[in-house]
Amino acid sequence: MTIQSWAEPYKIKMVELIKMTSRQERNQAIKEAGLNTFLLKSDDVYIDLLTDSGCGAMSDKQWAGMMNGDEAYAGSRNFYHLEETINTCYSYKYTLPTHQGRGAEHILSKIMIKPGDYVPGNMYFTTTRLHQELAGATFVDVIIDEAHDPSSEHLFKGNVDLGKFEALIERVGAERIPYICVATCVNMAGGQPISLANLRDVRKLCDVHGIKIMHDMTRVAENAFFIQQREEGYGDKTVAMITHEICSLTDGATMSAKKDAMVNIGGFLALNDDDLYEKACELVVIYEGLHTYGGMAGRDMEALAIGIRESLCDNHIRARIGQVEYLGKKLMDANVPIVRPIGGHAIFLDAKAILPHIPQEQYPAQALAAALYVESGVRTMERGIVSAGRNQETGKNHGSKLELVRMTIPRRVYTQSHMDVAAEGVISLMEKADRIRGLEFTYEPNCLRFFMGRFKTVE
Ligand code: F0G
Repeated sequence: MTIQSWAEPYKIKMVELIKMTSRQERNQAIKEAGLNTFLLKSDDVYIDLLTDSGCGAMSDKQWAGMMNGDEAYAGSRNFYHLEETINTCYSYKYTLPTHQGRGAEHILSKIMIKPGDYVPGNMYFTTTRLHQELAGATFVDVIIDEAHDPSSEHLFKGNVDLGKFEALIERVGAERIPYICVATCVNMAGGQPISLANLRDVRKLCDVHGIKIMHDMTRVAENAFFIQQREEGYGDKTVAMITHEICSLTDGATMSAKKDAMVNIGGFLALNDDDLYEKACELVVIYEGLHTYGGMAGRDMEALAIGIRESLCDNHIRARIGQVEYLGKKLMDANVPIVRPIGGHAIFLDAKAILPHIPQEQYPAQALAAALYVESGVRTMERGIVSAGRNQETGKNHGSKLELVRMTIPRRVYTQSHMDVAAEGVISLMEKADRIRGLEFTYEPNCLRFFMGRFKTVE
């Protein structure tokens, strides 16, 4: 028989007990956290859907790999295993391990950007854009318009709008665009994929103008799964084959290995170009560590090499995205407004639609995330105007059409009944949504304000 369900291709060998809290305890905890779910203690959280980053469950094989760590300062065998895996699975020639994704973004931005440059991208990621800005570039959003519309059913909302990209080249000149940053399964758009057809068109345009493509490959396997399911001609290709094809169309990549590859910490910068690699090596020793360990322990590189291969198994990714879709469908059946189509790593609640009485300047998504925690013990994250931050020069809020709360599903961690509880929490909150009030900052950090900002309810 062919199994129709998205059932998990693993069984549970060890469990971690979690605390269940009372509403009174949660009220107290969120108050102490300044209404910011990032500032909650994880012990006060029942189901943690804050992020899918670094909180996945490693397999027994990955844990066994940890025992095979070669902690030599230079030339660890685990580095060579990792390098070989990245070369085989992702096609990139050179690998520089970093402590996590943003370490790779830092180095890439420093070696490629000159002050006054422009970096287009299919939407932004918070740390990625900040590193580009700190290196002196202006980020330009060139994603298709549908990505900014939570109700658009476009199957590849991660696609680059070639017209917008060409207009930028026309306006500033190709020599001021060192690269385009192309993310797979665009996080801020709701975990939405880019198609291979679109990526090939981007490649052609870049080749004409001598612009490189740098790939934010944090969730590339999830993107490959959507291509397999949705793009003409890919139904019989494996996720591993599609992933390889995506990577081969790009010139290098930054990776937060804490997502797809299911390790608790780590990342890398991958490059094909000899000169860029040489420059990156010079910086990696300053900011991360020697080029054969960067920011990682030998054992962590081993777990990562094993995790990369596990992440590309069709059965794994089908169950991973199946679970996300299970939660999304439950919410859709209850008429909860969410970003559609359902993305790869999370369900995104449309806070503007759920809380139409709160103006965006009063941070509806932040307020919704805090209320959902109190309602159900489920921790989620704001992905709207607070995350978008302020323009470093003008001091104005970056605009954000999307005002979302992200319910992010860690890989291989929670069960179907946990998803039921998460859905129940949202549905029960929907009934009293009109009682949720807007917020204002009581403390606003200069950059990446969503991490440590504190809020109070507007009087
Ligand atoms: N790029 C994308 C698309 C990401 O989602 C992240 C992290 C990074 C880069 C940075 O990587 O955290 O390893 O330094 N995203 C996490 C999240 C934090 O919750 O979405 P990092």
